[in-house]
This record gives sequence, C-alpha cells and structure tokens, in this order.
Amino acid sequence: MEPSATLDSLAQELRVFRPLPQLVVEANVNPQELVAFRRQAERDPLGYWEEAADELDWYRKWDRVLDDSDAPFYRWFPGARCNIVYNCLDRHIETANKNKLALIWEGEPGDSRKFTYYELYREVNRFSGALRTLGVKKGDRVAIYMPPLPETVIAMLACARIGAVHALTFAGFSAKALRSRIRDVDAKLVVTADAFYRNGQIIKLKPIVDEALVGGADSVDSVVVVHRATVETDMQEGRDFWYDDVVRRERREAPAEVMDANDPLFLLHTSGAAGAPKIVQHSHGGYMVGVSRTLTHVFDIKPTDIFWCTADLGWITGHSAVVYGPLLAGTTTLIYEGHPNYPQADRMWNIVSKYGVTVFYTASTLIRMLMRFGPQYPRMHDLSSLRLLGTVGEPIGAETWLWFYRHIGRGECPLLDTWWQTETGMFMISPLPISILKPGSVTRALPGVEVDVVDREGASVPPGKGGLLVVTRPWPAMMTGLYGPGGEEQYRAAFARFHGRYLTGDVASRDEDGFLWILGRSDDVLNIAGHRLGAAELENAFRTHPAVAEAAVVGVPDKIRGEAAKAFIVLVEGRKGSTELMVELQNHVRRELGPVVVIKSVEFRESLPKTRSGKILRRVLKCAETGADPGDLSTLDDEDAPE
Ligand code: PRX
Repeated sequence: MEPSATLDSLAQELRVFRPLPQLVVEANVNPQELVAFRRQAERDPLGYWEEAADELDWYRKWDRVLDDSDAPFYRWFPGARCNIVYNCLDRHIETANKNKLALIWEGEPGDSRKFTYYELYREVNRFSGALRTLGVKKGDRVAIYMPPLPETVIAMLACARIGAVHALTFAGFSAKALRSRIRDVDAKLVVTADAFYRNGQIIKLKPIVDEALVGGADSVDSVVVVHRATVETDMQEGRDFWYDDVVRRERREAPAEVMDANDPLFLLHTSGAAGAPKIVQHSHGGYMVGVSRTLTHVFDIKPTDIFWCTADLGWITGHSAVVYGPLLAGTTTLIYEGHPNYPQADRMWNIVSKYGVTVFYTASTLIRMLMRFGPQYPRMHDLSSLRLLGTVGEPIGAETWLWFYRHIGRGECPLLDTWWQTETGMFMISPLPISILKPGSVTRALPGVEVDVVDREGASVPPGKGGLLVVTRPWPAMMTGLYGPGGEEQYRAAFARFHGRYLTGDVASRDEDGFLWILGRSDDVLNIAGHRLGAAELENAFRTHPAVAEAAVVGVPDKIRGEAAKAFIVLVEGRKGSTELMVELQNHVRRELGPVVVIKSVEFRESLPKTRSGKILRRVLKCAETGADPGDLSTLDDEDAPE
C-alpha cells in the first residue's frame, strides 16, 4: 500500500471521476434538476424546505416554516404536529410498501431475521404498549444499551412512537460510562440484551447494566432485557423484565402519539473538549424533513434498494442512516451484529452478495482496515449488485477513496463522501450520484445548506487556504438544543463566535473549482475510528490512576483509525516511568472508558505546557507531534473558542 497522500497533495488532487451516462439517465435527481434545486434553495431556502416537508405526513401543518425570533434557538415548523414513526411505518403500510422488507438483520453466527414494514409496525406497537405498561410516558427518557439487533431498532421506534425520548449508549462503553450517561438523561427505563456475539465470542451485556445501576442511577425503575444468547442472566425481581414477557399481551395496532414538531425525539452524547460530553437533542419535525430529503437525494433511493449502512446504532449515523432515514424513504435497511472480520476479512462482502446490497455506506476507517487485507477478499464475492458507495466519519484520503472505488465499486459506483455531525442530524456536504467527484473531497454543500470557510475574524478565506468550516444558515435537522446543565450556554456558544453562523469545529479548505476538502477537527475532540472522544474525558480517566499527577491527551494521525490518542503524563512524586507502567495506564483507561478507547502511546514528562490561566495547551503538544507549525489554523485552539 502506498503511504497516504499529504493534505497538500490531496488539495491539489487533479483526478476527477464522472458518473456513467446510464446512471445519470436513471438518477432521481438529474443534473438539470439539481441546478434547479440549488437555484430555488438560494432564492427561497424556506420554500425549498417547505416543499420537502410537504412530502411527509403531518397531523397538522406548520404556522410558518421557521421561527428565528429567538435565534440561535431556531424553531422549525412551529405549530405543526407529527410523529416521525408515523412517517417511518404507518404511512408505508397504506401503500405497496406494506409487505416489502423494512429490515434485514444478520447475526454474527450467520442467523438472519427479516421484517416487512407491516411486521415492523406491529412489533413496534407491541413494544410501545409494553413501555406504556411499564410506566413510560411522553417526555420520559429511555436509555438503550444494545448490540445491533432488530429489537434495538424496535426499541428506538417504540419510544418515539409514544413520545418518549431515546438515548443510546454504544455497547462498547463501560459500566461507568453507561452510568454517567444514564444519569445525565435521568433515564426511567433501560433496554438491553443478555449478551451478543462479537468476534466469535459471547459478550455479556446485562451484568454491565447491573453494575452501572449499582450505587446511583436512581431514576431507573425498570430494565427490559432482550434475549439474544444463552448465558446465565441475573434478573432483579420487580426491576428486570424479559422483552418477550413484556410484549406478549400487548396490542399490535395502536396509534402514534401526536407530537409537536419541536418535541424531543432523542438525545445523543458527543464528546466536548473542554469538559463533559455534549448531549445533543433532536426533535421530530425538522429532523425528519432534513434527514428524509438529504438521504433520498444523496443515495438516490429506488424501490428495489437494499441499503446497508454499517454504523452502530449508538451513533448519529445509526440514527439517521440506519433507522430513520431509510425507513422514511421506504427502503430496506440492513444491520449486522458482529465484527467485520469474523470469521475472516471477507464478511462484509459476503453480506453484500448474500442479500444483494445495492447501497453500501460505511466509515472510512473501516475501509482502511479492510484494505490492509488486500483485494483478494472482495474478489471472493459477487459485488455486482452494488450501485452506490458512501463514506462518512473522517477524511477518507485519496488512497483509500480510490481503493474503495476500484475494488468494491468496480470503478463504476459513485462514491459519496458525506460530511455531517451529530449536531447537524442530516447530511450537509455531499455529492449526489450524478456529481463529478474528486477523491478525498466532500464536494459541495447540499441544496438548502450553506457553508463557508473562514479565518479567525470570520472572513471567507481564498481558495486553497485552510480555515474554519461554518454553516451560515439554519437547516431543518439542526439540533434543537443541548441537554443538561450548561447546555443552553454551550449551544449559544456554538453560534456566538461568528455572529449566528454555526461553528462546526472542523478545518476545511475550498479549491479553485469550489470543491470542499475537510482537513480535520480544530478543537480538542479526538476522532478515533469515527468515534468522537473528548481529550478531557480521556485525561480524567488517566487521572484516576494513583501514579498520575497530570495528563494531556492529543490526537495524532493514525493510518488505520484516522486519528489515535497519545498521552503525555506527569507522574506523582516518587514514581518513575517504565514500559510496564505505560501498559498499565493504557489498560486502566480502557477499563475506565471501554474498549473503544485505544491509547497509542504514553510519554512521561516533567511538566505540561499551559496557558496563564492554567489550561493545558494541547495544541503545542500536538504540533510538536505532527511537526505542524503551531500557528497553523488546523490546530487552532483559541481560549475563547467554543469547543
Ligand atoms: O470532523 C468531522 C468528522 O466527524 C465529525 C462529526 O462526528 P460525529 O458527530 O460523531 O458524526 C459522525 C458521523 C456523521 C465532523 O465534525 N466527519 C464526519 N464526516 C466526515 C468527517 N470528516 C471528513 N469527511 C467526512 N465525510
């Protein structure tokens, strides 16, 4: 494999790829229509989004499209009443979609389950009823700590259907991390599984929930446990219930709760650099409009598609591109329980050919990982069903882009590099299948989305120059708040620095042709294999070890994960750095935060660089690591910058 291209050579990447003529003819949005959409959205952005909203079903339409009287606390579609689940399920069972597959699930051992829209609708109703019977009401928070199972999707939809707010925690997180997430949202109920299959092993999950609930998650009244693998499971009388038992007597038909467009749909944690992770809130109305329009445009959804987004359901990609987006679009969504390399490095391609996947959307980190094993693995399978590829999560880089395009997409499938965030809810910058592509570029903002690349003063930077990526206009799927103490100020801060423009925290540049290139995060959020982790969260975990006095963690480039964590540690008096201690600290942090956290290396130091006010200057450490000039915008870390 060649070394990855540097950012400079990426920005000068001259190769362009055009879609095949047949694809342009068949696309839902052809080039003329795209131009028309862009023109309309520029002239009348609210009208553009209103048309998108008109494609969905509402119990009551909006009084106006956007209320910006309390900006940046925007309210999309105020006065409207809807339920996103009505649009994901009920709407389809009135049409030919009723008996179409909504969900295909494959377990790691190779078992499989399938649900039509009608079957999924009925299962969701039964679990909604069970939640109600267990005392969950509109507005209550439900924590979901689940592997990728059909019941995970059912639980999300069942919550939303009755107006409860789901909050997923990735099943790789530890009991401690789960406990703080449950507490953060005051969850009333937890949905989990007894165990699941991963890398040929059975991983127990329920004991982690038990541990999380010991000594302080008082808000939780009940735990519902989905049976997945045969393991011994302790059930606490009166608190714990088997999923099969609670749904048994519930009705299969029940109406969805009528929600205000701005009522919360879900909460999702993301990591903040300066302290606790942020808890992003999305709501029913604007989110469904934004996600539905952008997903159908970008992935050109056809009635015969099998749509596979490989993201875990615990991330925003899982919410928007595995559950809500595909179901809003009436397509068939696929989920896989296990490890991508189990039992060997062709598992993903085996699934593509087995089910005839047509759209394959994944994280660039996964492609980098699979690339290492060589093209002989995809070659073992017939991948001719694929017509579109997608990537997300971090800059993919030209080498990985080209490998994915050639070896998976046969050099024929457009590769759609979608830029977005937990906060944006929907795709923001992305090509469409008809677009001209440059490997490594996310191309342009979608119609109705307006972005800019600006310097520290907020002025647009010229082509080829790095700057801060900002979104200059509200968009319908934007977060509707940050939950918890201090959330309001955090939210306001994201819009404050550049007078109402949303600061994404990413550094980007635009080339002479107007193509956008994402260069990475400007703040102290690490993006390890597509998982965002706050430097502060990692440092706190180090500091719980008795040998550690001070800790600073920075992200350093990593071929496989995109970014990896490097720690700088000042030891307590009397302790000396050693290889043994380094390994001990690495394991300690994994125990604290869960196996998702990989610390690449640990360096012992006498002191750490700090600001006058005592804040650690991670930027200086990072620049020394990467050889970058500390004045470089790409590592900008102004004291006044919102995280
Ligand atoms: O830095 C950007 C990177 O992922 C961040 C958002 O992370 P999260 O909220 O976890 O959502 C990830 C999936 C939507 C962004 O600020 N990122 C996301 N997509 C891309 C990307 N970086 C480069 N290219 C992308 N396509």
